[in-house]
Amino acid sequence: MNEKEVVASYALSIIGDAEIIGLGSGTTMLAFLDALRLWEGRKNRIFIPSSEEIARRAREIGLKISDLEEFEYVDMTIDGADEIDRELNLLKGGGGFLTREKILAASSKRYVIIADHTKLVDKLCSKKPLPVEVIRFGFFSTLRRIKERTGWICRIREIGSSRYITDNGNYIVDLFPDKPLENPQDVLKLIKEIPGVVEVGLFLSMADEVYVAFGNEVKRIRRGGGPQLGGKASLIP
Ligand code: A5P
Repeated sequence: MNEKEVVASYALSIIGDAEIIGLGSGTTMLAFLDALRLWEGRKNRIFIPSSEEIARRAREIGLKISDLEEFEYVDMTIDGADEIDRELNLLKGGGGFLTREKILAASSKRYVIIADHTKLVDKLCSKKPLPVEVIRFGFFSTLRRIKERTGWICRIREIGSSRYITDNGNYIVDLFPDKPLENPQDVLKLIKEIPGVVEVGLFLSMADEVYVAFGNEVKRIRRGGGPQLGGKASLIP
């Protein structure tokens, strides 16, 4: 098993009695769905996917799925992350699903992150750019404001020769800060204020629990501290 599979299998043991479960997006979440496929406990739960891709996969493996339109909150959400800093702030949106993920995160009684150890960083944007979802109406005007406000290189995300379009019908702009973020709160505020910006891939003070795989072992990461042992990764029960 690779680390994503290790932590995805481990995540089954922390679901407890959560009945309504949000599903983030990305490859770690696809590994989590593979683990769920073989788990008896899945049968009496309702799952809320954060993307069309995850919804499709969830349907394929026979999960009962619903929409966040139907619920005021979910018991827990399990999600991946692109980067996790020492305060458990997250960089997200590498796959383009940040807006629904952030709404799910904000609606969750427990927002749980699972990741492989490469995602741990000292400061956000150490390795990856900052994704921003932007509405198409007035796109170039919004893009100009983002550039003016940040002074950073901004790239419109593309797939092949076309612009990437999110599940919400918007574009993604990837921002390349000159250096890792010292004050992610200020950056979030600065960009989020711009009309046309739908969401920014900074999830600050949102994660309640973070589990990270180091080889075959899973550790729970505490805010402000180093990794602490959360238990051995177990195979699918
Ligand atoms: C999706 O847009 C992201 O927020 C993902 O949660 C994040 O990119 C983690 O992806 P992987 O699990 O593929 O690394």
